[in-house]
Amino acid sequence: MSLKVHLDYLIEKVENLSPIEGLASLADQFSGKIVFSSSLGQEDQVITQLITTNMIPIHIFSLDTGRLFPETLDLIARTESKYNTKIKVLYPERESVENLVDDIGINGFYDSVENRKACCYVRKVEPLKRALQGNSIWVTGLRAEQSANRCDMKKLEWDEANQIIKFNPLLDWTYEEMISYINNNHVPYNPLHDKGFISIGCAPCTRAILPGEDARAGRWWWEDSKKECGLHAR
Ligand code: ADX
Ligand code: SF4
Repeated sequence: MSLKVHLDYLIEKVENLSPIEGLASLADQFSGKIVFSSSLGQEDQVITQLITTNMIPIHIFSLDTGRLFPETLDLIARTESKYNTKIKVLYPERESVENLVDDIGINGFYDSVENRKACCYVRKVEPLKRALQGNSIWVTGLRAEQSANRCDMKKLEWDEANQIIKFNPLLDWTYEEMISYINNNHVPYNPLHDKGFISIGCAPCTRAILPGEDARAGRWWWEDSKKECGLHAR
């Protein structure tokens, strides 16, 4: 049976389970073919805590674009040490980055949406494709509340771009639920969150937000676009 055909059955079985139960059930059904992409954001830290403390066999990986905040890289090390786990770090193809920088300049992503998407493609989307290759389930930390673009996502959905089933276990969690889970369980998080950064991506493309601003207003803040990098193409 093709993977996509499996989706309706999985939705029925998994959609109403708690995040832990959903992760455990999918890890059982897709042993060795389920991976979790962590950007080290707060949602992702909750999922890492759930996976590691419950010893759910799901590999964790992160995409180091080469332009992340040092605080994010530190958090990889802190998380590995706290949960005695390994986060596999993937890097962009060297030649592609060199060609990109030759073409658009070191900070050419500020010049146009096209340049920005080209940078996101080389530094994030292509490495993501490599990480997902050969797997059946891709776990993410997406929450519906994060943006208008994400509010109609499903907990389990087909990702056409990567031909994989995507599982978003925290999709219906509110921001407040996530923060209280982090506090109650002493989950390590990026210190930038305490300085007004809510959604954190690459350093040159993320700024702190002001009270009342949209949670993703600090991502690619100079753009009037949908503010997506292409990882979650829809
Ligand atoms: S993005 O598309 O705007 O960059 P966002 O930062 O909201 O995404 O994160 C949403 C989810 O995408 C995360 O929970 C994580 O699963 C995945 N993700 C985003 N960036 C990365 C990254 N650098 N490495 C691994 N996963 C990532
Ligand atoms: Fe490049 Fe910015 Fe996209 Fe990071 S977020 S990959 S620096 S354009």
